[in-house]
Amino acid sequence: MDGRDLVRSVKAVGSAGATQGLRTVRAAWRRRRADASGLPPRGAERARVPGPVRDVEPGPGGGVVRFDRSELRIIVAVNGAVFWGWDGAGPEPSYALANRCPEPDPRAALEPDKDGGWRVVAERVTVVVSRHGAVEVLTPGGVTLRRDLPPRWWEPVGGGPARWMQRSEVAADARFFGLGGRASGPRLRDGTYRLWNTDPGRPFGPDDDPLYVTMPVQLVVADAATHLVFHDSSWDGTVTLREGAEGAGSGHDRAGSCELRMDGGPLRCWVMVGTPARVLLGWASLTGAPALPPAWALGHHHARWGFGSELEVRRIVAGYQERGLPLDAVHLDIDHHDGHQVFTVDEDRFPKLPVLAEELRRDGIRLVSIVDPAVRAEPGNAVFDSGTAEDAFVRDAAGRIVRGVLWPGETVYPDFTHARVREWWGRLYEERLAQGFVGFWHDMNEPTSFTAFGESTLPRSARHSLEGRGGDHREAHNVYALSMARAGYEGLRELAPQERPFLFSRSGWAGMQRYGGTWSGDVATGWPGLRASLSLVMGLGLCGVPYSGPDVGGYDGSPSPELYLRWFQLGAFLPLFRTHASLRAGRREPWEFGDDVLEHARVALVERRRLLPYFVTLAHLARRTGAPYVRPLWWSAPEDRALRDCEDAFLLGDCLLVAPVLDPGADRRAVQLPRGRWYDTATGQAYEGPGQVLVDAPLSRIPVLARAGAVIPVRGDDGGVELEAWAPARGRTGGGLVVTDAGDGWDEPEIERYVARWVGSRVVVKREGEDGVSEPPHPVRVRGLQTG
Ligand code: GLC
Repeated sequence: MDGRDLVRSVKAVGSAGATQGLRTVRAAWRRRRADASGLPPRGAERARVPGPVRDVEPGPGGGVVRFDRSELRIIVAVNGAVFWGWDGAGPEPSYALANRCPEPDPRAALEPDKDGGWRVVAERVTVVVSRHGAVEVLTPGGVTLRRDLPPRWWEPVGGGPARWMQRSEVAADARFFGLGGRASGPRLRDGTYRLWNTDPGRPFGPDDDPLYVTMPVQLVVADAATHLVFHDSSWDGTVTLREGAEGAGSGHDRAGSCELRMDGGPLRCWVMVGTPARVLLGWASLTGAPALPPAWALGHHHARWGFGSELEVRRIVAGYQERGLPLDAVHLDIDHHDGHQVFTVDEDRFPKLPVLAEELRRDGIRLVSIVDPAVRAEPGNAVFDSGTAEDAFVRDAAGRIVRGVLWPGETVYPDFTHARVREWWGRLYEERLAQGFVGFWHDMNEPTSFTAFGESTLPRSARHSLEGRGGDHREAHNVYALSMARAGYEGLRELAPQERPFLFSRSGWAGMQRYGGTWSGDVATGWPGLRASLSLVMGLGLCGVPYSGPDVGGYDGSPSPELYLRWFQLGAFLPLFRTHASLRAGRREPWEFGDDVLEHARVALVERRRLLPYFVTLAHLARRTGAPYVRPLWWSAPEDRALRDCEDAFLLGDCLLVAPVLDPGADRRAVQLPRGRWYDTATGQAYEGPGQVLVDAPLSRIPVLARAGAVIPVRGDDGGVELEAWAPARGRTGGGLVVTDAGDGWDEPEIERYVARWVGSRVVVKREGEDGVSEPPHPVRVRGLQTG
């Protein structure tokens, strides 16, 4: 970022703060020069590899293999996950792990392998270590899933953290997914992906990388099995991926490859092997069950930067109500703050926020507040004063508080990697709750500073507590937002123990799902942005973060009516369904794009509300199993090559296949179907998979197909739950899981299990329980019979 970019960033503040902001930016920009000098140069380095094996020491779940110049600790855990760490690295401490490291599997033991190597044989995976330190992961049937070559370190001669590199090979047919939220995916093609949470500083498209949420988590899907590998280091790094190629009988296979380079941190990883569902279950058991959003958060949200006043909020809400359009939440951006300062309200323009919140609440609409981490550095600002008293703000190596620039002007940054600071911050949400907010939108927490210390974040030399271990921003950067989410989540649990906290955060890291979800950030308005927003949701789901969604319509500019509508129709089937846009963007209300768009948007909104019980069910299943709501088509058939490469459609849970329209001018589209019968839910027409079919996609709707046999909970006209069953193919059965929970508390509803089967010429749905089969407690409607 250069000076001009800075000025542009500040101009983006837009409102009255801009002139003052510009002045503070200039001042801060000058200071920056002094600040950047905090880190000593790396100087000369010495390279190291493990060298030949010397001896082993068996231990619980595996043991330690010693080499001439390093050692490798292997632990197979009871949940089937495998950990290994070099140079004495163990699984803890870790920002990703939800709890302590899982217990070792007592049955897994280190035993000699051929050629002087060693191996650990466990129930679901075999790990083989060669005598020079290559590590191979195999299926129980002996097929290689991943082969790590011996790692290499570069150590500064004068001391300091070692850089390292790990090169791996995967099967020739393997596809890569994950690495957090990537705009170009979900399939990660050949290229280099950076691991450094970044605000791109302008609306992004598919070619922008990295973005706000990066994670060293790869999900690798191959014929032999799926595996997830997580390199537990929060340092800056890059991952270079190259898909393999199959010889197809006429030549040799070329393996896929992955090269991970990290600027520091332990060289340690976790690997999970199995089906996609099993792998995500293992990942959730390691890093934490996804937080359960309250039911209202699964409805429609309307946000905007620049409502500007209570009056405008009321006008928008009335616009929804007068037209009979469902609305569940309104989000207030930084313009409702006093001088853009977090945890304050501009009383002139929002004089009676608690009253507004209460009135909206009566109409079933919740208020959500933005929360930025940066605090205006000005005595008299209550948050600054209490943070100063608490010694909460990040300092540099010389002990001075690090300054940045954000919306409120010159700012300081809480050090969320300190438990005491998290507690202080968590208590600040009391002000928000008193204003009537019940949901929280964490933003600018990469963290972002417009001062650009070489890049738009804190200087790498900035000091952090890192839970008392001490370290600098190189290690703390990627876990800053994760720790902020923890602060918010734990604070809300204390302040409002009876309610499930609702928060979503722009930035984050492995494990962020424990505290909430995310959204796609400032996606550029345009058809490529629409595609990128689906890529982000799918990719994040495969990294264990199931709740997310884009700014419907894109963040900037003005979408065409068609683009707005197609985005709206996609958003209606994503976990977070939110319209939002920048201060300077065109309008985003559904009635601003003409009567046709309004009517079609209404259909999408009404359908979303009808599907609410299904979304609630998916939220509960995500929490219990780690399975994302939005799943790639290959979720249950990872061996299906055509599905593996299909990126323009998704499964919503087990029951629905959603095929959004991602190109202009389309009125039908090709859909790649997984095995089995699928019904077009609009026409009832049945299609047989696997294979590709062409389905109608008029402007009025996007294609949604239901799996034959599916039992889907939907909202009936009276507001109660109904079961919509889609006829199984003749001679087959179907079923579904249902969790009915309309609340936002902690009650643990049970999972209802249904089976659908043909009895003569009828399809009958029954509930299956511990005491046998019974009539469902909900009305049942069977569809798809005409093709049975
Ligand atoms: C960031 C956020 C955006 C928000 C804006 C102002 O750009 O990503 O959602 O509207 O800041 O707060």
